[in-house]
Amino acid sequence: MNKIICKSRQEAARVGALIIARQIWDKPDSVLGLATGGTPVGMYAILAEMYRAGDLDFSRVTTFNLDEYYPISRENEQSYDYFMWKNLFSHINIDKSRVNLPDGGAADPLAACAEYERKIKAAGGIDLQLLGIGHNGHIAFNEPAQELSLRTGVITLTEQTIKANARFFASDEDVPKKAVSMGIGSILQARKILMLAFGEDKAPAVKKMFSGAVTTQCPATMLALHPDVTAVLDEASASML
Ligand code: GLP
Repeated sequence: MNKIICKSRQEAARVGALIIARQIWDKPDSVLGLATGGTPVGMYAILAEMYRAGDLDFSRVTTFNLDEYYPISRENEQSYDYFMWKNLFSHINIDKSRVNLPDGGAADPLAACAEYERKIKAAGGIDLQLLGIGHNGHIAFNEPAQELSLRTGVITLTEQTIKANARFFASDEDVPKKAVSMGIGSILQARKILMLAFGEDKAPAVKKMFSGAVTTQCPATMLALHPDVTAVLDEASASML
């Protein structure tokens, strides 16, 4: 795993944006795996700025998001669908028909998960997958457990994750208890992975990720199995390395 340690999260967001931009410059019809959470927001703003400046063209880019709450409607302001349009898609020239997120409102979630996997495959697989990391080392919504799902599936969120995400909702009770998430296998199949982690509170999870051991109790450690991962960190999240 390569790591780039930046002075601040602003600088790290810029480095992350340049890695994504380079992917699009090299391959204008790239398939990007995208992430939500507080971490990528600054980087998405920089990508939007680069689009406005005429430096980036998203018209041929296809996106697949990592995860979505379940159940939740796309119109719900806390849905990841809403988040992506608010923070990125409505500011760039992405073709709506090339935007994909797991369906948090599917009547048959398992069938929808299988269809999501099929769509990723049909698009040629993910060229560059963006990831954040949870305090417990989760990636997407793959929570620490004895076994991890290989493929996109329905996940029961841990109390810690519900609490961490409650800041976006009115209260803990309003956070959906489940999610639909790409599996560890789906993530590891991406050709390249870009991990962003910022802040002192992420330092213990980042330390574990770089520990050299692989354990399902810290899903991010699975990234050690991938040949092309770059972690862009700020000094705070790298402080325990
Ligand atoms: C959520 C998302 C993850 C994200 C994590 C960290 O649980 N499902 O994809 O990486 O939170 O979020 P934040 O960036 O807000 O710390």
